[in-house]
Amino acid sequence: MMVRRVGRRVVSIAAIVLIAGIAAAAVATRNLRSGKTGGPLQAVSAPAGVVARGKYLAEAADCAACHTAPGGAPYAGGLAMPSGFGTIFATNITPDPDDGIGRWSAEEFWRALHDGIRRDGQQLYPAMPYTSYRGMTRADADAIYAYVMQLLPMKVANRRTELNFPFNIRLGMLGWNVLFLHDSLPAVSAGSSPAWQRGRYLVNVLGHCGECHTPRGIAGEMELSRALTGFALSRVAAPDITPAGLASRGWTAAGLRAYLGRGLARQGSAFGDMHPVIMLSTRNLTAEDLDAVAIYLLGDNPPPPAPLSATDATESAAAIEAGRTSYVALCAGCHGLDGNGVPNTVVAMRNNSTLRLADPRNLIVAMLDGIGAANFPHHASMQAMPGFSDKLSDAQAAALANYLRVTWGGQKADVTPAAVRALR
Ligand code: HEC
Ligand code: HEC
Ligand code: HEC
Repeated sequence: MMVRRVGRRVVSIAAIVLIAGIAAAAVATRNLRSGKTGGPLQAVSAPAGVVARGKYLAEAADCAACHTAPGGAPYAGGLAMPSGFGTIFATNITPDPDDGIGRWSAEEFWRALHDGIRRDGQQLYPAMPYTSYRGMTRADADAIYAYVMQLLPMKVANRRTELNFPFNIRLGMLGWNVLFLHDSLPAVSAGSSPAWQRGRYLVNVLGHCGECHTPRGIAGEMELSRALTGFALSRVAAPDITPAGLASRGWTAAGLRAYLGRGLARQGSAFGDMHPVIMLSTRNLTAEDLDAVAIYLLGDNPPPPAPLSATDATESAAAIEAGRTSYVALCAGCHGLDGNGVPNTVVAMRNNSTLRLADPRNLIVAMLDGIGAANFPHHASMQAMPGFSDKLSDAQAAALANYLRVTWGGQKADVTPAAVRALR
């Protein structure tokens, strides 16, 4: 299952109009290489070791997540990325000479990743996360190039972007890049060890974790001063994964390794937009690289995981009691009356990081939609979770969410029926 990454790289109307003006000024100084589409088919022969390294890096960078359509050939493009202002399609990056990148040189490939510029000199939209890949080393980009250039060429025509005016003017991105394309990596945690440095590269550059977990500003740019502090993508939010945020919800390095390595940890399991990230990308990381990611996210001196704080439940005792009735009837069969779940089979509710989030939306969406057993490494032993949207009214779902938050999440009973209705 490929989750569509909808609207998470949105560029706002006002900003584009403003930026188009800046672009007009900038374009005079830029030498556009228009109409450069012909040229010879590239013959790339790299040593097997480089190709293997390129495959590993392409997975760490999750190129296939976007450059593969649901049910389509890997890297042959076609994934639609809809947004409020139109649809952008990820392209075919197999080495087909006409439909893919078979005529692209390593230099031109590098320019796409590093500068967001296509072979014909036109600007790419930041739906292609070159803002993150800009930090990639040339050697790593070349290895990825060596890997994709030996894939089977696929004759799959690219689909034209369907953006409305003025977003269809690619030139507008010139100005956007002047403002928002940075060379420095954000500081998320404190550290200096070799593992921390490697983790910084894996998280910010290859893994482009900030593309979802970092808040976005008015022009759709990542607000690097608040890197990884969390962002509401759509119905499911990418939580705060800074050291403070992670520790406040009980995460440890061991928990992060288990979650990113196989999608299931004592603190919770992965779902929503995070599911394909783990399936296609992080679970392929070596143990050493997983370690590096965990060390970077928590820092060289990880904060201790916060114990569950007691919540004053007296105020909302009646609402919580109603929630408990639903829990016993619908949920306890799997998650246990004590909320401890079943090891390796059903994730625990007690101390679950989703219940410990101040923002209740992920909890509400998980119980309304359920979580499909979509080829997770751990799903061999794990059941899927059914959705309960037809079994719970807005009021019942709110009471259940409040019961869970207060009992096992250390959060307030502040979920309203209206909040549930908005997420249906
Ligand atoms: C989050 C989604 C996403 C990820 C991840 C991603 N891309 Fe892209 N990529 C796109 C989109 C969308 C476009 C087309 C953008 C446009 O039309 O402006 C694109 C365009 C490109 C292009 C230009 C192709 C052309 O025909 O113009 C290249 C090359 C490319 N990507 C390579 C890569 C590589 C290599 C990786 C991994 C290191 C990668 N992409 C990861 C979404 C993504
Ligand atoms: C048939 C067994 C089953 C039932 C019944 C069930 N769940 Fe689940 N639940 C699961 C499993 C298994 C997962 C982990 C899914 C995964 O990631 O593969 C899960 C995940 C969750 C999650 C997401 C947290 C996380 O870390 O993955 C929440 C929240 C949740 N359940 C709440 C509920 C609530 C509330 C109910 C009752 C309305 C309920 N569940 C009923 C099996 C069940
Ligand atoms: C496509 C968007 C997206 C990308 C890219 C992404 N994440 Fe996530 N992430 C999410 C969403 C949505 C959730 C919430 C669902 C869940 O908890 O499983 C999440 C949850 C998490 C969690 C669990 C937090 C908690 O308290 O439950 C961790 C840890 C995490 N992501 C780390 C990462 C890392 C590290 C990367 C980069 C390698 C990354 N994410 C890339 C969307 C994304």
